[in-house]
Amino acid sequence: MGRVITLVSGKGGVGKTSITANLGIALAKRGISVLLIDADVAMANLSLMLGMHSNPISLHDVLLGEADVEDAIYDGPAGVKFIPSGLSLEGYRRVDSERLQSIVNSLQKQYDFIILDAPAGIEKNVASAIAAADEALLVTMPNTLSLTDAIKIKLLAERLDVKPLGIVVNFIMGEKGELRDYEISKLLDELPIYGLVPYDDEMRRSFIQKTPHPVVLRRPSSKSAVAIQKIAAKLSGTPISIGTKKQIPAEEAKKQGIFARIIGMFKKGKG
Ligand SMILES: Nc1ncnc2c1ncn2[C@@H]1O[C@H](COP(=O)(O)OP(=O)(O)O)[C@@H](O)[C@H]1O
Ligand SMILES: [Mg+2]
Repeated sequence: MGRVITLVSGKGGVGKTSITANLGIALAKRGISVLLIDADVAMANLSLMLGMHSNPISLHDVLLGEADVEDAIYDGPAGVKFIPSGLSLEGYRRVDSERLQSIVNSLQKQYDFIILDAPAGIEKNVASAIAAADEALLVTMPNTLSLTDAIKIKLLAERLDVKPLGIVVNFIMGEKGELRDYEISKLLDELPIYGLVPYDDEMRRSFIQKTPHPVVLRRPSSKSAVAIQKIAAKLSGTPISIGTKKQIPAEEAKKQGIFARIIGMFKKGKG
């Protein structure tokens, strides 16, 4: 049975789709069988980020019972397989995302990894994308807004009995005021840091071309591509140690009062 992992964040624009596409390719390049599923049924863009355009049968059709799932699986770069989401608004209105879990279950034996790209927010489609998986990787930027949403999503995953696997911090710029990896981990109940992805113009440029070209293929030695390959190595069992925990200096510890209160607010509603 393959591992089923959802990339979630709560907040949009933190890099879920970019990381899903590149992580899938990085795993596939290691000879691992990977299926990516665009579970962002409202704002499908995984296939575009993979540099793919024409995918006539989509997850919408499968969710609507109008197509067989095998017919919605396409070949992406480097041997990665993927199921695109539909672009039609009408299709989106009609889909029942709760069926995602049984679709994923029917495919689990065929792949080493199934990775779902979840929508932003905390609504039903997000819950469906989380519930269809066994594990969740939380993607966050190193700032309070993004982290606050990640805290909510972690609680949602736990309620759905999905194991939060770790945190991927994206868009790290090393600027003053940015939350540090150990602070982020602490504020998410010591959930381990799974990956640290720097802000990288090469990553941004990958998607501003007419045909997007994922950074792990276009610039495999760029800093974001290296960081994502480290995540792939970790997921696939190659021993690489990243994100080591550090001692928190006293003044850093003081700053955490506000976050402890934020976490407390969410936890009140738990159970
Ligand atoms: N590490 C990074 N460095 C620079 N740009 C990035 C990075 N990660 C993502 N981006 C850019 O940020 C934008 C939003 O990313 P996306 O993957 O669509 O986020 P999400 O799926 O969470 O909404 C994209 O234009 C992407 O190219
Ligand atoms: Mg996205």
